[in-house]
Amino acid sequence: THQWRGIIEEYRDRLPVSASTPVVTLREGGTPLVPAQVLSERTGCEVHLKVEGANPTGSFKDRGMTMAISKAKEEGAQAVICASTGNTSASAAAYGVRAGMVSAVLVPQGKIALGKMGQALVHGAKILQVDGNFDDCLTLARALSDNYPVALVNSVNPVRIEGQKTAAFEIVDMLGDAPDIHVLPVGNAGNITAYWKGYREYAADGVAARTPRMWGFQASGSAPIVRGEVVKDPSTIATAIRIGNPASWDFALAARDESGGAIDEVTDREILRAYRLLASQEGVFVEPASAASVAGLLKAAEQGKVDPGQTIVCTVTGNGLKDPDWAVAGAPQPVTVPVDAATAAQRLGLV
Ligand code: F0G
Repeated sequence: THQWRGIIEEYRDRLPVSASTPVVTLREGGTPLVPAQVLSERTGCEVHLKVEGANPTGSFKDRGMTMAISKAKEEGAQAVICASTGNTSASAAAYGVRAGMVSAVLVPQGKIALGKMGQALVHGAKILQVDGNFDDCLTLARALSDNYPVALVNSVNPVRIEGQKTAAFEIVDMLGDAPDIHVLPVGNAGNITAYWKGYREYAADGVAARTPRMWGFQASGSAPIVRGEVVKDPSTIATAIRIGNPASWDFALAARDESGGAIDEVTDREILRAYRLLASQEGVFVEPASAASVAGLLKAAEQGKVDPGQTIVCTVTGNGLKDPDWAVAGAPQPVTVPVDAATAAQRLGLV
């Protein structure tokens, strides 16, 4: 019997590792590519969801973190640090445990989902809540890694991008070629950078015949790339992408322009509508930021920008269990019944 070995072993020849790199892994990657029935009907396309919430800590961050922590360990680091809106910190905390390293995480005070905080806590990370937003946390994390013995594992660390590009490999390996369009949420813009790198590498080596158009979507209250300027006080219910000055801004523009793609915005209302549609009609529970990709696809389709007959992949980046408040909010309270089948049957509408 054998199982998926994690992205470093599965794609070793395409990653900057050597025989002496200690592989720190939770067997991340190998995530499901799920056909999306309702989205396919609505767009007239063949839409697939790349379900990254199925990774070991519940988000795509594990792909980059297995690389970042393995390389940090190879270089003899004893501690790592990251700024995070929650998922990177959860991943750094877990992989830090596997590596026997101290993980320090900087998060914006009061602005990370409870599930993510719980992960960082239970894995024993050293957590500082910063009186500021994600961009302030990243500034602080850079200053600490520049001046103290601690390695930075944010996606400004290029090996993070190397790990994350494997999601594009998996999609081509499954579909037999790149899709026509790849859609994803954009926050710090590392992931769109990584996918574009992965698609380009496969095309350059002839594994794929083409590259997709890259479509990125930011939340309207946190859309610096769309506006063309830094957003000082970013806001959105999708806390994972509440970022006003993305570190990989220029790479995101390159991905957009080189691929003939687009970077646009979706409102919180559109995000929540897509979030509910994914859960109630596709059976896929994602966190709000993840639904930005699907919200963007639906918006583009409504604007007549999606020609039918195309193959489209939407990455849904994180698991819905990370931030269940939005699932519970506004939903009807379950009714309480006695231990009585007749009453239960009546309440369930079976009679
Ligand atoms: N979706 C989720 C669930 C995320 O956690 C993030 C980023 C993104 C999308 C955007 O990806 O930053 O590469 O453009 N989360 C980071 C974090 C910022 O700290 O966990 P990006």
